Amino acid sequence: MRNATRISFNPRYPDIPALREKARRRIPAFAFDYLDGGCNAGENLERNRKDLQEIVLQPRYLEAFPGCRLETTLFGQTYAAPFGVAPVGLQGLIWPGSPEILARMAAERRLPFVLSTVSTASLETIATLTEGQAWFQYYHPASDTVRDHLLERARAAGYSVLVLLCDTPTFGYRPREIRRGLSMPPRWNASNILQALGRPAWLAQTLRTGVPRFANLEPYMPKQMDLAGLGRFMDGFFEKRMTREKIAYIRDRWPGTLVLKGVSTVQDAETARSLGLDGIIVSNHGGRQLDVGPSAISDLQHIAPAVGQDLTVMMDSGLRSGTDLARALACGAEAGFLGRAFMYGVAALGSRGGAQVAGLLETQLRQVMEQLGCPDPAQFTHFR
Ligand SMILES: Cc1cc2nc3c(=O)[nH]c(=O)nc-3n(C[C@H](O)[C@H](O)[C@H](O)COP(=O)(O)O)c2cc1C
Repeated sequence: MRNATRISFNPRYPDIPALREKARRRIPAFAFDYLDGGCNAGENLERNRKDLQEIVLQPRYLEAFPGCRLETTLFGQTYAAPFGVAPVGLQGLIWPGSPEILARMAAERRLPFVLSTVSTASLETIATLTEGQAWFQYYHPASDTVRDHLLERARAAGYSVLVLLCDTPTFGYRPREIRRGLSMPPRWNASNILQALGRPAWLAQTLRTGVPRFANLEPYMPKQMDLAGLGRFMDGFFEKRMTREKIAYIRDRWPGTLVLKGVSTVQDAETARSLGLDGIIVSNHGGRQLDVGPSAISDLQHIAPAVGQDLTVMMDSGLRSGTDLARALACGAEAGFLGRAFMYGVAALGSRGGAQVAGLLETQLRQVMEQLGCPDPAQFTHFR
């Protein structure tokens, strides 16, 4: 029988693993390993997936079902679906122009898009492309002057949601990146050059778009800098460990919505609440920082009941399908974010990749809702 599911994506790539495989063949190995890898032995990357797969939902076939809607309101803004694009640093290295591609797609489809401080598009460019709809993920600069300047730039550009990160007190130890020379400073070697030459579509696009830049940091960088200088600059630029004092200062100065990303414990979630934050993203950075840590979906199950009444609780790390989103929502998240999945899409299909991922996630999520009898994303918790 013909599959009657309504689809709004290219059926040659009906799931994220198909896009991941296409991405692997289309971009150089150093870019793929940077995107795909976890830290250390990659155990937390696997744990995120394994624990998600343990979550099962129960259908209610004989209940009245009025149909389902995916729309979700976060911080007073209604989005088309309960998922968004997570912040990814150095995006343009993975596929040239990818932050612009994903930001445009998200604005067109009314989905949240979060720009990383260390992405390759400037916050001003993304604010213009999305007409002020994007969120900004703020890495904390070491200098007080730069801290205030970056905050002021985000405010002036029209961002209403600022996302502070608390799960990167140190650089993650990532063997796949180290092996490819992707440590700071990045190193070009014969192997990397050969890999790039073997990926003509990526190379041609990179030559057209230009070498990826840390566009948000350029105003603060010395003019002439070699790679070693860039490494030293990046090392000294950020004060990686987040503290209550830093959050309190930003809470005082930031007039808009403030979200803490990387929350892993009830204690940190309660601290976020006591400091006046509006929301949290339960996340372990996609398994890229702490290999011995718990999965994000297991953290979510403790955190959502503890603070969900007062804070908007969102989640990322390990989500690869509409089914996974259903699981995250059933465990108490109001929305899920995806980092790698959207980037696999763009690396595989270029400018069409973001819409492909959004389309297949929407289709998969809607199918789960229709199958369970779940009328809207907030009702998923009743199906566990
Ligand atoms: C290549 C890569 C770079 C990332 N860079 C950042 C970043 O600059 N800022 C940030 O807050 N999170 C960053 N993250 C983490 C993502 O925002 C998100 O937490 C993670 O990707 C979610 O897991 P998933 O990839 O399994 O969806 C990065 C993730 C990846 C894969």
